Amino acid sequence: MTEDLQNITLYTERLTLRPVILEDTDWISVRSHDYEIAKMTLSIPYPQTRANVLRFLQEWISQAKEGTDYIFAIINTQPCGLIGLDNIANGTAELGYWLSRKSWGLGYATEAAKAITAFGFSTLGLDQITAGHFIDNHASARVLEKVGFHYTGEICHLVSAARKTEVHCKQMILKQEGGG
Ligand SMILES: CC(C)(COP(=O)(O)OP(=O)(O)OC[C@H]1O[C@@H](n2cnc3c(N)ncnc32)[C@H](O)[C@@H]1OP(=O)(O)O)[C@@H](O)C(=O)NCCC(=O)NCCS
Repeated sequence: MTEDLQNITLYTERLTLRPVILEDTDWISVRSHDYEIAKMTLSIPYPQTRANVLRFLQEWISQAKEGTDYIFAIINTQPCGLIGLDNIANGTAELGYWLSRKSWGLGYATEAAKAITAFGFSTLGLDQITAGHFIDNHASARVLEKVGFHYTGEICHLVSAARKTEVHCKQMILKQEGGG
């Protein structure tokens, strides 16, 4: 089952979501080297480095084999970002994503997030998916709302690799339809 899942490709109206591969290193290194992207994520450093991207890709590919993380390249005519479910355990996973700046404002994040949450519930059999956004990340808040997430009321204090400081993060959750 995990063997098949690590190769699964998802299709939406405008996007292809395919599992990341080591050959993605170069475009990810270039497109994620952007402070406006990095500052809204937990783990993208600024400056970004090729070695860091390669290390993450190696981890993600091995974690997909174990069924704990599924990270996809978001492709329109070209690769434009990443989206994934990680820390999969006990029916729960965390959603994360970023898009290169020239692809913002086109509805791609919402389209990709709807597809990957559907994959999480219907194919992975998850009960719930969590996501967090930094308090100043209004675009991501809106994406999560449009996908159906709601606030848990929990606020975490997490260190952003790019900002190198603690940032308040609002937690959101999406439950499987029909679930509790
Ligand atoms: C967050 C991100 C993925 C959004 O991608 P996107 O493809 O532009 O998102 P969508 O087009 O699907 O939706 C964005 C929504 O946010 C809204 N929005 C954008 N900037 C906003 C702002 N500053 N304030 C309020 N709403 C904003 C848009 O109007 C849109 O909502 P609408 O459809 O109701 O008009 C992209 O901005 C990004 O990669 N940011 C940096 C990394 C990041 O934040 N990752 C998520 C970490 S939690």
